[in-house]
Amino acid sequence: MNLRSLGTAPKVGLALVRSDLNVPLEDGKIRDDTRIRASLPTVETLRARGAAVVLMSHLGRPKGNIEDGLSLGPVAQRLSQLLSTDVRFAQGLPTSAAAQAEVKRLAPGDVLLLDNLRFDPRETKDDPGFAAELARFGDIFVEDAFGAVHRAHASTHAISAIMPSYAGLLVEREVQALDRLMHGSEQPFVLILGGAKIADKIGVIEHLAQQAQEVLIGGALGNTFLEARGVPIGRSLAESGELDVARGLMRRFQGRFHLPIDVVATRAITDPGHPVNVEEVGEDEMIVDIGPATQAAYRDIVLGARRVFWNGPLGLYERAAFAEGTLAIARAVAQCEGYTVVGGGDSAAALAAAGVADRVGHVSTGGGASLEFLEGRVLPGIEGLLEN
Ligand code: ADP
Ligand code: 3PG
Ligand code: MG
Repeated sequence: MNLRSLGTAPKVGLALVRSDLNVPLEDGKIRDDTRIRASLPTVETLRARGAAVVLMSHLGRPKGNIEDGLSLGPVAQRLSQLLSTDVRFAQGLPTSAAAQAEVKRLAPGDVLLLDNLRFDPRETKDDPGFAAELARFGDIFVEDAFGAVHRAHASTHAISAIMPSYAGLLVEREVQALDRLMHGSEQPFVLILGGAKIADKIGVIEHLAQQAQEVLIGGALGNTFLEARGVPIGRSLAESGELDVARGLMRRFQGRFHLPIDVVATRAITDPGHPVNVEEVGEDEMIVDIGPATQAAYRDIVLGARRVFWNGPLGLYERAAFAEGTLAIARAVAQCEGYTVVGGGDSAAALAAAGVADRVGHVSTGGGASLEFLEGRVLPGIEGLLEN
């Protein structure tokens, strides 16, 4: 894939950069800053070239209005620490008069972070008017939000049609790594899929399962597959609207799909939970992790793999009592000698929590984005960056 790279961009006074600073927050605190760190090289490069940088991102899924808990304020503070400079912050609507005034005040090397793009309802509608308002904040546009390139939104898609657009360093690195994984020929190719954004992920599994020899399923996604197979899952998080899709996949790729054989079940997430055979989950219980037998079975398959792609935690890993399955998979992926790629904000955080983030081939900052990229489609956020 031939992207218009940052290295070929002209030297400009003002660069507008879309990053994916959608980090997990807990009581207003950043739980994992992997995505913020990943955004730094592009910002540093532009500053070193004498540009002022206007940074923009979404955070969570506000419904098109301002939600105080989803302001990017905490991210601006962390950016200030990491860049050792006072990163300005324009709170509220991203293209407000106040934000415009802040942009006018910028000097070479300054960095301004706009607030959550999704505070404006036009962002997720891919609205050209909103994109045009944003476009006034830069002489060039740099797309570095790999985690959001699968979204056709104003800041990832509409904007690249109206101003000179370049791939940021993160997008470039991500595309190279995923290209290598996708076009490799080493087998077995093992997919490990979990997490909670089921509706987003289930469709792409069809394309990936065609290439992979083994597909290991867990997390809330696994609950959906178990329910589709007729296993009672009690009050577990699952997507009942996707059962037919899950059944179709298991029928079509018979023998390739592995579902948990045992799980950790609990009545309340504040309880410690207990391992049970997958058929023995109580009506009033939830599945919150894969069990020890499943961990061992999945581990063996991963250790024998020559290519691995992992997206989505295998359980509710934010709670230590339910993190063991996810951590075991993280360690197995780190030990695997093949080419390993881990994608997803939460999966990357789990890898860091297991202390093995530096022992995999590539850690993608994109979850849904990396999955959809591996389908082989040109994604909306990449389309406008292709060299023709
Ligand atoms: P990623 O960010 O890696 O793409 P997702 O966002 O799809 O992953 O999913 C991560 C979330 O899934 C985590 O918050 C985790 O707690 C949740 N999750 C995983 N398994 C379960 C489960 N069995 N029950 C409830 N939540 C789960
Ligand atoms: C992610 O966390 O996967 C990206 O930031 C995209 O977020 P979204 O699924 O809310 O569009
Ligand atoms: Mg996530």
